[in-house]
Amino acid sequence: MDNDFYDEFREPTRRDRLLKGEEYKEAWQGVFDVKTLEALDALKRRRIIEDIYWVVSTGKEADVFYARSPNGDDLAVKIYRIHTSKFRRIDKYVLGDKRFGRMKSVIKSKWSWARREYKNLSSAWKCGVHVPKPIAVYRNIVVMEFIGQKGTPAPLLKDVEDIEYPEKVFDMLLNDIEKMYKEAKLVHADLSPFNILYHNGIAWIIDMAQGVNINHQYALHFLYRDLHHIINFFVAFLDDIPSPDEVFTRIVGKEPDLIIKSLVREQF
Ligand SMILES: Nc1ncnc2c1ncn2[C@@H]1O[C@H](COP(=O)(O)OP(=O)(O)O)[C@@H](O)[C@H]1O
Ligand SMILES: [Mg+2]
Repeated sequence: MDNDFYDEFREPTRRDRLLKGEEYKEAWQGVFDVKTLEALDALKRRRIIEDIYWVVSTGKEADVFYARSPNGDDLAVKIYRIHTSKFRRIDKYVLGDKRFGRMKSVIKSKWSWARREYKNLSSAWKCGVHVPKPIAVYRNIVVMEFIGQKGTPAPLLKDVEDIEYPEKVFDMLLNDIEKMYKEAKLVHADLSPFNILYHNGIAWIIDMAQGVNINHQYALHFLYRDLHHIINFFVAFLDDIPSPDEVFTRIVGKEPDLIIKSLVREQF
C-alpha cells in the first residue's frame, strides 16, 4: 500500500529547491514574514537546514515544509505562522515601534508554541514513543525527522483503509499513550487519527504542541478523550476491542468519573 502511495512522487529537482543560497529571500518573500526569514537564515547558518523544498501542509496555526539537512537527511520544518498576510509587508516597520507591543507578544506566543511542541516531542521521544525525532527549535520554527518518502508525508491514519495488522498498530498506540503518561508524564490532548501518520506499519504520533503535563487540571479529561478517539477509529478494524474506560483505568489506576467523561460527550 505504501509503495502505491508514493509512486506518483519523484525526486526533487533543482527548480524545486526554493531555499538555496541567497535566492531564497526572493523566492520565499511572499510566503514568509521577515522574522521567519531571519529565523530560517539562522537555522541555515547553524547547518541544521540546507534547503527547503515545498510545503506539505498548511494548517490554521502552522505550515509544514519538506526540507533537507546538509547531510541530505529529510526534515519536516513546522513553522508557526506569526501574521496573517496583511501584516507581512509592514512587520519590518512596526516591530521597531514601541506602540506595537501587542504584536511582539503575538510573536512571543508563536515562539512558545514551537518551544512547547519541541519539548513535548523530546520528552516523548526519549521514552521511546513513536514520534518524529526532534532536531531543533528556533523562535517559531520546529525542525524534526520527516515521516514519509521522497518528500511526501506518510498518509494520516484516518485515510488508511487497509491497515495490515490493525491489532498491532492499535496495541502500539495504546502502549505509546501509556508510556507518554507514565514515563514522559505527558498527555497529548489532541490525539486522533488526524494527528497520526502511518508509515511502514508504524503509527507515528505528531502535532504535540498542545500536550500537557499529567498534573494539568484537565489532563485526565484529555487522556480520556484521546483514548476515545483512538478506540473509536479501531472499532471498524477489530472485533474485540477494550472500552476507553478499561484502558483509562489500566493506565491511570482508577476509573474515569463522570466529569472526566463529560468532555467527550460535549463534543459529540
Ligand atoms: N514529521 C513530519 N513528517 C512528515 N509530515 C509531517 C510531519 N509533521 C507534520 N507533517 C505533515 O503536516 C501536517 C500537519 O502537521 P501537524 O503537526 O498536525 O500540524 P497542524 O497543527 O497544522 O495540524 C500533517 O498532517 C502531515 O501531513
Ligand atoms: Mg494536526
